[in-house]
Amino acid sequence: MSVQRPQVLAIIGQGYVGLPLAMAAVDAGWTVIGVDIFAAKVTQINGGSSPVEDISDEQLQAAISKGAYKASTDFSTVTQASVITICVPTPLDQNREPDLTLLRSAAAGIAPYVSNETLVVSESTSYPGTLREIIIPIVNQLKPEGSRNIYFACAPERVNPGDVVWNQKNTPRLVGAIDEDSQTRALTFYESICDAVVSVSAPEVAEAAKLLENTFRLVNIALINEFTQLCSASRIDVHEVIDAASSKPYGFMPFRPGVGVGGHCIPVDPLYLTWWARQNGGSAAFVASADLINREMPKYVAQRALSLIHPGIKNPRVLILGVAYKPGVGDVRETPASELRDYLKEQGAEVAWHDPLVPVWEDSIPVDLEWECDVAILATMQPGINIDRLISRGVSILDCTNSLTGESSVIAL
Ligand SMILES: NC(=O)c1ccc[n+]([C@@H]2O[C@H](COP(=O)([O-])OP(=O)(O)OC[C@H]3O[C@@H](n4cnc5c(N)ncnc54)[C@H](O)[C@@H]3O)[C@@H](O)[C@H]2O)c1
Repeated sequence: MSVQRPQVLAIIGQGYVGLPLAMAAVDAGWTVIGVDIFAAKVTQINGGSSPVEDISDEQLQAAISKGAYKASTDFSTVTQASVITICVPTPLDQNREPDLTLLRSAAAGIAPYVSNETLVVSESTSYPGTLREIIIPIVNQLKPEGSRNIYFACAPERVNPGDVVWNQKNTPRLVGAIDEDSQTRALTFYESICDAVVSVSAPEVAEAAKLLENTFRLVNIALINEFTQLCSASRIDVHEVIDAASSKPYGFMPFRPGVGVGGHCIPVDPLYLTWWARQNGGSAAFVASADLINREMPKYVAQRALSLIHPGIKNPRVLILGVAYKPGVGDVRETPASELRDYLKEQGAEVAWHDPLVPVWEDSIPVDLEWECDVAILATMQPGINIDRLISRGVSILDCTNSLTGESSVIAL
């Protein structure tokens, strides 16, 4: 066993995953270095202003002022760390295939500074084999000569931004490492931060489990989005159907329809799975079909909204309420509101939007609720939207969130 090293953690990437992890680790007694390539973000964080909703400025400032946390653009700072976690984005490229550019550059960034006996963990979501086939070869090739023993594990992050119940601490953490020593170290590290740690036999199991979790959500959302269209065509209230089915005490889990799927995870991760299937000579047709159904959903929503407007109006004014991909966050990555807006415009509509948590969206700014419109689409039930104001004006609202009931001007998706 190695000599005891100080509890210094380096986290690569200070976004929705990395910064909350940093604060959880500070709470658990770690000294944390947050490395990020985005200099303006590092300056903002070190100035005590949190870029993510789940971390308050006060919490961040407290961690900084007690000397337990600092952000940096300098990869050489990771030399001090006994544990390095990688929390950088794993998006899709133009062909909607895995783009591991940032993950590779994070691995290459830390490699020259990894000290002997350091544990390197990937928390980024990716296909099975990423740790073993991509990250480890890069680190081993570029690491200092003296860093003979480096330990590697995968512990995919499951955080759900905006969730007031589940967080880094109380969400069970999957840990799968490449060998016994790495597994022991990774379990010890996560046990110091999380309430529950689930040990799996290999990094590939942890990587695959993360893809399964998010693909499970994608296909169930697609199922209910398709089912909603069938019910609507037959004038059946899909929400009453879902409530009815939910009375079954086993074997059913309710999902609700919506404008589509958004964010960095649900629309993206299942395509890592379909790509991985193709690499192995297989296919994931069911997942691909679910992806397609969800991507068509904004068009269906637009058509439903336009059907509520008098056909004589040639250039209807449509207000989209809530453009973030889910309530409680200002995150517009992959938001289906983009396709919704584009399709409405293609149909000749004039489109404006309102979202109290989003100051700017794709170079446009929001309007207030006095904006005259022919129909409003409640895409995301964002806290702070004064929906009563619209209702009192008698505006027709297509509610895609199942949150408004009992108003004659509100039509549920
Ligand atoms: N956001 C979520 O809800 C969520 C939940 C679970 C898992 N994940 C996964 O976690 C990973 C990170 O996602 P996120 O939402 O935190 O992303 P994010 O965009 O919020 O933050 C990532 C940060 O990494 C920085 N960065 C990019 N490349 C870098 C590099 N080479 N070196 C240092 N910093 C770099 C960016 O500047 C950014 O600040 C992804 O794989 C994602 O799929 C995200």
